[in-house]
Amino acid sequence: MEPIFETATVAPPPSGLRIESFVDGGAGGERALADDVLDGLTRPFKELPPKHFYDAHGAQLFDRICDLPEYYPTRTERAILTANADAIVEATGATELVELGSGTAAKTRLLLDAMRRAGTLVRYVPFDVTESMVRDVARALVDEYDGLDVHGIVGDFDRHLHRVPDPNPEGSRIVAFLGGTIGNFTPGSRRRFLRRIAAMLAPGDHLLLGTDLVKDPAVIEAAYNDSAGITAAFNLNVLRVLNRELDANFDLDQFSHVAFFDREHEWIEMRLRSVCHQSVRIERLGLDVEFAAREELRTEISAKFTRDRLTADLAAAGLQLAEMYTDPQDLFAVSLARKP
Ligand code: SAH
Ligand code: AVI
Repeated sequence: MEPIFETATVAPPPSGLRIESFVDGGAGGERALADDVLDGLTRPFKELPPKHFYDAHGAQLFDRICDLPEYYPTRTERAILTANADAIVEATGATELVELGSGTAAKTRLLLDAMRRAGTLVRYVPFDVTESMVRDVARALVDEYDGLDVHGIVGDFDRHLHRVPDPNPEGSRIVAFLGGTIGNFTPGSRRRFLRRIAAMLAPGDHLLLGTDLVKDPAVIEAAYNDSAGITAAFNLNVLRVLNRELDANFDLDQFSHVAFFDREHEWIEMRLRSVCHQSVRIERLGLDVEFAAREELRTEISAKFTRDRLTADLAAAGLQLAEMYTDPQDLFAVSLARKP
């Protein structure tokens, strides 16, 4: 599919806005969903990748999760960045920030502000699968930061990482992957993904990685089983996406939200449990999917980290852990890793 180029005419380069879209408005995105659903729902243990949570409604629900009292990761990561953004910018000398899974870029402003204070801020590259978020963030940031070059990428970081624009050879780059989203990969694909990020870095460039930490399972489980039921709605929303995009007939009342901490793997698993024996039709795939009573469909894992796990994963990608910033309770970590 051809990318859509959009360049603002109001501000000449280097300050300006450019958005490239690789997933929306064509068959590409829909085909990727169809392939994932066909693959995932015909396995002996049914599974869907978490990226399909994030249509516009799912993105709004995630935003509400971030403000929940039980969901400590967002506010903790924000506090860590507030305390350390200047140190991060000083240690890296970064002129460019590439952010994967940028979402609403709410915490990103802390880094952009620090880069502006240091006088190094040149370019921001938000990269997200949700088109509306990339567009809204990109437009807001060119307005908020005078002279900032924003190059938004609407893409799937599993497929389109090579679309990130080349770095300026005179500048230095931070690739930020915040929010603990790296935890949504299984261990093998996590290392593969970190290696692909490392390939986007020149020697002396940095990765800034947000990771949720291993802690009392009760605290973790509460974060994914909030009392207001927002995480349950977020989880169930993936079925709504399948109904709309693939003409499926999931009855959301016939599935319930499940989230538990797997102590062996040290990750949260979110699942959807079929409340009865049922058959679901996915018209666009010509597929009927049987669910046994109480059968579960895995929709997300969210891995929790220790310093050792993090160091080993980074080393496997050829990156050196330079600094691991945490909060006083060791709930969450923001790690700065350097490409040697
Ligand atoms: N970084 C933000 C948002 C985290 S939520 C924060 O820390 O609050 C995860 C984000 O990653 C969402 O915005 C979602 O749309 C995006 N995302 C999930 N899977 C993706 C994929 N495969 N490719 C690109 N973006 C993805
Ligand atoms: C985006 N990701 C890191 C969140 C997480 O905590 O794994 C998504 C989420 N799922 C349920 N609540 C939040």
